[in-house]
This record gives sequence, structure tokens and C-alpha cells, in this order.
Amino acid sequence: MALMLGFCFYSKKSLREIKRLGLSALLHDVGKTEIPDNILKAARKLSSSEFKVMKRHPKIGEFIIKVKSGIDGGIARGASEHHEKLDGSGYPRGTREISYVGQVLGIIDCYEALTNEERPYRKAKSPLDALKTIKADVEAGKFDRKIFKKFCYSLI
Ligand SMILES: [Fe+2]
Repeated sequence: MALMLGFCFYSKKSLREIKRLGLSALLHDVGKTEIPDNILKAARKLSSSEFKVMKRHPKIGEFIIKVKSGIDGGIARGASEHHEKLDGSGYPRGTREISYVGQVLGIIDCYEALTNEERPYRKAKSPLDALKTIKADVEAGKFDRKIFKKFCYSLI
């Protein structure tokens, strides 16, 4: 959420947009509350069946936000689309049509995971290395170049 707010202020978003994008960032992984702890907190690479379960969290999040909480639909899209990629290689739907909030969240979530999530099987990357990794995904058509550029500038 802090990274999203930094992005919003850098991009001079309106207060209405800042609230919408900020709330999307805060709630984007709420679906993980329904993923069993042994999968969520596994200190190892997940098996393919465990990863299948993990991949349910965007749809669960969308359901919690839209149906259970009745919050604005745009915020639910952020939760449902933050692991989608523009080349269709993401999940859960593999769609190439991703809302703006879903695209921004995708980049920020990726950066946050690469820089913060120290795992026994993977070291956390430096901010520069994380941006290089995401840049390679931009080159591969997975993320939007303009949004990525803005995110980079919002960090400095
Ligand atoms: Fe997620």
C-alpha cells in the first residue's frame, strides 16, 4: 500500500483515485486468508498441487471484496487481476485484458515480493535487481512499459 501511495503521489492522481488504488493495494491479497497455513507459510517451493490451491487466492479475494463486503467493483478487479500478465501467462484466468488497477498492482506486488520475501530457497533481491527482473518481464510483454517507468520514478 505504501508503494502504491508513492506511485499515486508521483503520478499526481486525484484524491478519489488515490483512495481507490490505495484500498486496492491494501486488499489485493485478502483471498490468502482462505488459503491453508501449511501452504501459505511453507518455507519451501510449493508442489504443483499446492500451487494450484495458492492460485485460488485472487478469485477468493474478488469474492470477499465484491460479494461479502460490497465494496466497489474496481477494487475487486485489483484482487482478481494482480497475478494476470499482459501476454496471457498469468493466473487465475490467463486473460490479457487487465484493468489499470490490476496492472499497477501486478508490478508493485512483484517488486514487493522480489525485494522482501526472503525464503530458504530464494534470497531477497536488491531494489535495483528487482527492477531489472521486472524490466525483463516488461520486455517480454508481461507488464506495461509506461506504468513500469512511472513506478521506477516513484521510488526515487
Ligand atoms: Fe497475490
